[in-house]
Amino acid sequence: MLLKSLLTSLVGCTMASLAIAANSTVATIEVTGNAFFNSDTGDRFYIRGVDYQPGGSSNLTDPLADTNVCLRDLPYFQKLGINTVRVYTVDNSLSHDDCMNAFADAGIYLILDVNTPDASINRNSPACSYNAAYLQNVFATIDAFANYTNVLGFFAGNEVINDSNNTNAATYVKAVVRDMKNYIKARNYRTIPVGYSAADIVSNRVLIAEYLNCGNDSMARLDMFGVNDYSWCGHSSFTVSGWSEKVKLYDGYSKPMFLSEFGCNEVVDSRPFTEIEALYNVEMTSVFSGGLVYEYTNETNNYGLVQIDNENNTVTELQDFINLQSEYNKTSNPTGDGGYSKSSDYSTCPTYEAGVWEANNTLPEMPTAASAYFKSGAGEPMGTILSTEGDCDAEYDLEISSSVEATSSSEVSTSSIESNSSSMTTATSTTTSSSKSKDSGNLNIQVPTIFKIVNEIMNYII
Ligand SMILES: *[C@@H]1O[C@H](CO)[C@@H](O)[C@H](O)[C@H]1NC(C)=O
Ligand SMILES: *[C@@H]1O[C@H](CO)[C@@H](O)[C@H](O)[C@H]1NC(C)=O
Ligand SMILES: *[C@@H]1O[C@H](CO)[C@@H](O)[C@H](O)[C@H]1NC(C)=O
Ligand SMILES: *[C@@H]1O[C@H](CO)[C@@H](O)[C@H](O)[C@H]1NC(C)=O
Ligand SMILES: *[C@@H]1O[C@H](CO)[C@@H](O)[C@H](O)[C@H]1NC(C)=O
Ligand SMILES: *[C@@H]1O[C@H](CO)[C@@H](O)[C@H](O)[C@H]1NC(C)=O
Ligand SMILES: *[C@@H]1O[C@H](CO)[C@@H](O)[C@H](O)[C@H]1NC(C)=O
Ligand SMILES: *[C@@H]1O[C@H](CO)[C@@H](O)[C@H](O)[C@H]1NC(C)=O
Ligand SMILES: *[C@@H]1O[C@H](CO)[C@@H](O)[C@H](O)[C@H]1NC(C)=O
Ligand SMILES: *[C@@H]1O[C@H](CO)[C@@H](O)[C@H](O)[C@H]1NC(C)=O
Ligand SMILES: *[C@@H]1O[C@H](CO)[C@@H](O)[C@H](O)[C@H]1NC(C)=O
Repeated sequence: MLLKSLLTSLVGCTMASLAIAANSTVATIEVTGNAFFNSDTGDRFYIRGVDYQPGGSSNLTDPLADTNVCLRDLPYFQKLGINTVRVYTVDNSLSHDDCMNAFADAGIYLILDVNTPDASINRNSPACSYNAAYLQNVFATIDAFANYTNVLGFFAGNEVINDSNNTNAATYVKAVVRDMKNYIKARNYRTIPVGYSAADIVSNRVLIAEYLNCGNDSMARLDMFGVNDYSWCGHSSFTVSGWSEKVKLYDGYSKPMFLSEFGCNEVVDSRPFTEIEALYNVEMTSVFSGGLVYEYTNETNNYGLVQIDNENNTVTELQDFINLQSEYNKTSNPTGDGGYSKSSDYSTCPTYEAGVWEANNTLPEMPTAASAYFKSGAGEPMGTILSTEGDCDAEYDLEISSSVEATSSSEVSTSSIESNSSSMTTATSTTTSSSKSKDSGNLNIQVPTIFKIVNEIMNYII
C-alpha cells in the first residue's frame, strides 16, 4: 500500500514535470533599417500597443508575474486589437511563463524596461549609479526574459534625461545600452533590440536621438528609439500637433523610431484618439513604426483606458477605450513597406556644448566586476528589493546641499507637456518618488563617503 502510493506519487511527479510545456513561440520581430519586421512573414511590423502599468508609477507592480492580472487584461487587449504592451518594471525573481505564454498565444509582444525604482541610472548622479550591482540586476532581467520569443525589445532607460541640465547622464545610458547588447551577444541569446525611451524635450530631443545612434562602435549604438510624445491633444491634426515637423526632424534616422507613450489628456471629455489615423499613415510610417498609448489602466493621473476595481478584480471599459478601439478598427497599416529606409548611416555624434549637450563621446568602461556575468550569466535574480543606487542621491544632495532643496515632488505641476509626461513615469526612469529622495537626504550629511566606499567595493566583489 505504502509502496504503491509512493510509486503513484512518484509517477505523478514525473508526469507533472513532463507536463511542463515548452514556452509558446511566435515569430520574432527583427530590425532592418529603420523598421521592424516579422521574421516569419517578412511583413513590416507596426507597434499597436498600450503602456501597461497597473498600479501606476506610485504602486509599481509586476503585471507579468500574476495571472490574476495579466489574464484579466488579455481579453481587453485582444478586443482593442493590439500587438504590443510596454511594461515599466518587473520582478526578475518571479516566473513570467504563464503571462508571457498567454500573451504569445495571443500574438502580443513585450517591450520591457529593465530598471526598477531602486536599480536605475540616477540622473543626478549617473556615474555613482552605474555599478556592477546595477548591471547584475539588468542582466538578470535579460536572463529572465530572453527566452520568450515575444519579447520585442528592452528599454535601457526611460526619460533619464528629462531636462536641459542633465544631458551628461546620456553617457551612462549609452554605456548601459552597450553593456546590454554585449551581454545578449555573450550569452548567445537571439539579437533582441535594445533601446531607450526619451522625453520629448525641445532643447535636446534630436541630440539624444543622434547621440545614442552615433560613433563607430556598433555595439554602443541602440537598436530602436522610443519618444514619449504628448503633443497631439484631442481633435488635433498632423500639422497642428507638430507631428509633421517631427517626421522632418527625425527623417534619415537609421533606427526604428516609435512613440513609447502618447495620448495627451488635455481634452474636455474623453480622448478621441484621432492621431491613430495619422500614426499608421504613410505620412508618418517612413520614420515612425507606430506607438503605445499611455496607458491601459486608469490611475490618479487620469490617463486610463479602463478602470480596475481592486475589490473584485474587474475591468470596466472607459470611453477612451471605446474611442481607441474604434480608431484602431478603422485604421489599417499602409500596404507594402510603408516607405521605410534601409539606410544604415548612423548619426554623427553631437559635439559638447555647455548647458545644452554635455554627454561624453568616450564612454566609461563597464565596471570590471560585471564582466564575470558575461561568462556565467548574471546569477541569482534579486527582484525589486535591491537598491543599487546606494548613496547616489546623498552624494548629489551634498553637492547642492546648502542652498537648494534637492528634489521636488514628481506630482508637482509643471507648465510643459514634456514635464507632465516625465512625472508620470519617473518611478521607472531613475530616482523615484520625492519621499525616497528625502529619505536619502536624511542619511547624507554624515556618511556619504562611507557609502561611496561600500559602493566601490561592491563594484569589485560582486
Ligand atoms: C520559458 O522561458 C523562461 C524564461 O527564459 C524560462 O525560465 C523557462 O525555463 C522556459 N520554460 C521552458 C519550459 O522552456
Ligand atoms: C498596489 O498594488 C497591489 C497589487 O495590485 C494591490 O494589492 C494594492 O492594493 C495596491 N496598493 C495601493 C496602495 O493601491
Ligand atoms: C536641474 O534643474 C532643476 C531645476 O530646474 C533642478 O531641480 C535640478 O536639481 C537640476 N539638476 C541637476 C543635475 O543639476
Ligand atoms: C532558455 O532555453 C534554453 C533551451 O530551451 C534552455 O536551455 C535555457 O536554460 C533557457 N534559459 C533560461 C535563462 O531560462
Ligand atoms: C573609432 O573612432 C575612434 C575615435 O574617433 C578611432 O580612434 C578609432 O580608430 C575608430 N575605430 C574604427 C574601427 O574605425
Ligand atoms: C480615473 O481615475 C481618477 C483618479 O482615481 C478619477 O478621478 C477619474 O474620474 C477616473 N477617470 C475616469 C474616466 O473614470
Ligand atoms: C465590483 O465591485 C464594484 C464596487 O466595488 C461594483 O460596482 C461592481 O458592480 C462589481 N463588479 C462585479 C462584476 O461584481
Ligand atoms: C472592426 O469592427 C467590425 C465590427 O465589429 C469587425 O467585424 C471587424 O473585424 C473589425 N475590424 C478590425 C480590423 O478590427
Ligand atoms: C570623457 O570620458 C573620458 C573617459 O571616460 C574622460 O577621460 C574625460 O575626462 C571625459 N570628458 C568629459 C568632458 O567629461
Ligand atoms: C499637465 O499638468 C497640468 C497641471 O497639473 C495639467 O493642468 C495639465 O492637464 C497636464 N497636462 C497633461 C498633458 O497631462
Ligand atoms: C525629472 O525627474 C525628476 C524626478 O526624478 C523630477 O523631480 C523632475 O521634476 C523632472 N524634471 C522635469 C523637467 O520634468
